Amino acid sequence: MSITPVITIDGHSGSGKGTISARVAEHLGFRLLDSGALYRALGIAAYNLKIDLNESIQITELMKNIEIKFGANGPGTVLLNGEDITLMVRSELGGKMASKIGAIPEARKALFDMQLAFRDGPGLVADGRDMGTVIFPDALLKIFLTASVQERAERRYKQLIDKGIDAILPDLLRDLKERDKRDMERIVSPLKPAEEAVTIDSTDLSIQTVVDQVLSLFSTVIKKSLQR
Ligand code: C5P
Repeated sequence: MSITPVITIDGHSGSGKGTISARVAEHLGFRLLDSGALYRALGIAAYNLKIDLNESIQITELMKNIEIKFGANGPGTVLLNGEDITLMVRSELGGKMASKIGAIPEARKALFDMQLAFRDGPGLVADGRDMGTVIFPDALLKIFLTASVQERAERRYKQLIDKGIDAILPDLLRDLKERDKRDMERIVSPLKPAEEAVTIDSTDLSIQTVVDQVLSLFSTVIKKSLQR
């Protein structure tokens, strides 16, 4: 195979995409693109610099002046112009800012090439909202992962409480619904399954069951592509 194979895993916030993508990538020895972290880092940069999200020129300028680095301070870390912003990136604020900035065409355009550059080595697992529809339309396998909004809010609540962070379930539920609406209704790259995507509803499934399903689908796709 001459071109690096890609598995795209798109879906709703809290559907388990992040964990599942990381495990699939680790199992296959593939690279991982957590595109949400790029949007979160950009959102935090805009927040810190008090950028007006209605001013597209300010967003374009911002993109010229920031450098985002992953993993430089250890696995999962994010540096913004040399400053470790990992905790902010993963916070509720990071998610909210990412969803706002993700609705701005200039921001999506600016992150386009950065995302393509992750396609390297033996393979790539790309986690996001538009990985299969816009960024890697030629991916070998496209997954659309979902779960009921109640289940996703409960998972997030448990994660926060386990980390010792206060959380209010009805607030998380409301925020998730708002974010789903913004992600699905935006004009550029709205969240929707790619035509050929396999949809997996993880509401009643364990993480490992979903990982096994993705790996099994990938091995079928690879076998088919070798027969061609
Ligand atoms: O996946 P994660 O929850 O980290 O994404 C945070 C937000 O970033 C999403 O709600 C979405 O609005 C935005 N995003 C996006 N396109 C992507 C990845 C994330 O618009 N490819």
